[in-house]
Amino acid sequence: MCGIIGYAGSREPVGIVLEALSRLEYRGYDSSGVAYFGSDGKVSVARASGKLSRLSEALQGTTGIPDVAIGHIRWATHGAPTEENAHPHRSGPIVLVHNGIIENERALRRELVGQGYVFSSETDTEVLAHLILRAYREEGDLSQAVRKGLASVEGSYALAVLCEEAPGQLVAVRKGAPLILGEASGEYFVASDVPAFLKWTRRVMPLPPEVVATLSPEGLSLCRLSDGQPVPAVFEEVPWDPVQAEKGHYRHFMEKEIFEGPRAIMDTLEGRLGEENSRVFLPELVRLGPNPTEIVFVACGTSYHAALLGRLMIEALSPVPVRVEIASEFRYRPLRFRKGAWVVGISQSGETADTLGALEVARREGYLTVGVTNVGGSSITRETEAVLLTRAGPEIGVASTKAFIAQVTLVWLLALYLGRRESSEVRDSLGLLVRSPARLEGFLGAIVPAEIDRMSRQILEARFVIFIGRGVDYPLAIEGALKMKEITYRPADGYPGGELKHGPIALVEPGVLVVAPLVDSRLRPKETSNIREIEARGGTVLTIGPAGSGPEDLVPSFLLPETSGWDGVFFASAVLQLLAYRAAFLAGNDVDQPRNLAKSVTVE
Ligand code: M6R
Repeated sequence: MCGIIGYAGSREPVGIVLEALSRLEYRGYDSSGVAYFGSDGKVSVARASGKLSRLSEALQGTTGIPDVAIGHIRWATHGAPTEENAHPHRSGPIVLVHNGIIENERALRRELVGQGYVFSSETDTEVLAHLILRAYREEGDLSQAVRKGLASVEGSYALAVLCEEAPGQLVAVRKGAPLILGEASGEYFVASDVPAFLKWTRRVMPLPPEVVATLSPEGLSLCRLSDGQPVPAVFEEVPWDPVQAEKGHYRHFMEKEIFEGPRAIMDTLEGRLGEENSRVFLPELVRLGPNPTEIVFVACGTSYHAALLGRLMIEALSPVPVRVEIASEFRYRPLRFRKGAWVVGISQSGETADTLGALEVARREGYLTVGVTNVGGSSITRETEAVLLTRAGPEIGVASTKAFIAQVTLVWLLALYLGRRESSEVRDSLGLLVRSPARLEGFLGAIVPAEIDRMSRQILEARFVIFIGRGVDYPLAIEGALKMKEITYRPADGYPGGELKHGPIALVEPGVLVVAPLVDSRLRPKETSNIREIEARGGTVLTIGPAGSGPEDLVPSFLLPETSGWDGVFFASAVLQLLAYRAAFLAGNDVDQPRNLAKSVTVE
């Protein structure tokens, strides 16, 4: 939710800030703004509602002096996405950008209004600008003013602050929302996510919570928010390749990221398989002690669907029982898991507030927690006892694609790790997983775009699309439906195939389309019955499966390679992702930035 960038260095900053914002656009895109020092020594603020392109057009040819500058891209929480509510917000010489939610905003606003502060927006952020100004008037130092100004603030924030009276200084601080520092020679960056500055540096340091960073073209210093005590800065090189954060020859990030699925599997397997791929090593888990008595997955959206697949895999290969919980509902029930259970949070971004909140409760209740995430240094990595990184590389499209593939790889690895090494099932399954990247690559390379488009058009013409599946096809079905809703805005829903007759079948009539992944070979006869029931009521069915998976006299509408296990999940996912992608594109939608959504959901 919202993206922040701050720059301190000796180059013209407006262009850098705008370019960085374009790489954060996936976090929010309803308004944007920048603040920079002009040659008159004053801070200029430019803001625009709508997509970033409107701000870029308005700022064409504008330059700031080499110094510090900040920028913001917004996903509205308090106040409509208007120019007045866009960041940066200003109070006298203090200018700032914010990501997060100030929970005691009303009380603080009342207090400030009583003291004569005038508000010009409906945002909670403006409260912060006034609080910091009030403190600055007393302290005369920006870093101290930020510390003092935030003392009475409750809620979550990531802030980047400038002061017209303190050129050459940019102060950043975070609590509950992410900020990453970047260091290049003679330049410093602070941003909500690494891709913002990946073009200029790969040396990064996640800013620890409640630590104040002061960036200037001359250097960087860190101190604790509570007492101002110095904190050391330790930068590390991220393995991410800057090219991964570019679209290359693809039209959209989503398309590119679907085709990066094989690499996501390969990189997630890297270093985790023994000699001759004989066994799975997850050394990250060793510190947790013996295997868990139970696994409880918590996750949201697509990550939740990966967890559902994880349950099937772990229960099939190991004796460990598994539960899967929607993170946003987790906190409202007593936690009565087995002693020795691990609570495993899956989150691409590692910043999803609901997932982090669920893990926090689990930890408080004495359970061991594990974070499965694609972003090293994200909040989940600091708030869990063990971390398993998926290695899909930066995922920019809001719709999760390669990150899902990497999550499935990881939960599959976890199932193999917990399974009995000597069992032939484990050995065969490992062999299948190891061959998956090459098979998926070959499959993606052979896809005929016209075939996808033909089905995508059928989807667009349908009044309603129902995705059904049993066994592993059920998580695939609900993931397919989520992807479809998210970027095409068409009515779609996913159900377990067996549930159709308990209600949803009433929706079936001519004009209704049913999409059925058919990967789970054990359940084919039952899926076939569901398909027949739909056809008998005038619905049209599109099947996605290997030869022989559909009703006897039919070839699947989209043919998958032969599968002998869960590798079919990768093939079917790729097809479902491509179907949603092409349908959204053909409908003229903004594929990478669907309406009302944001990539990281850092609010509850
Ligand atoms: O970063 P996370 O994996 O925690 O995000 C969870 C969901 O918000 C996310 O998977 C969302 O459902 C995707 N946009 C779906 O494509």
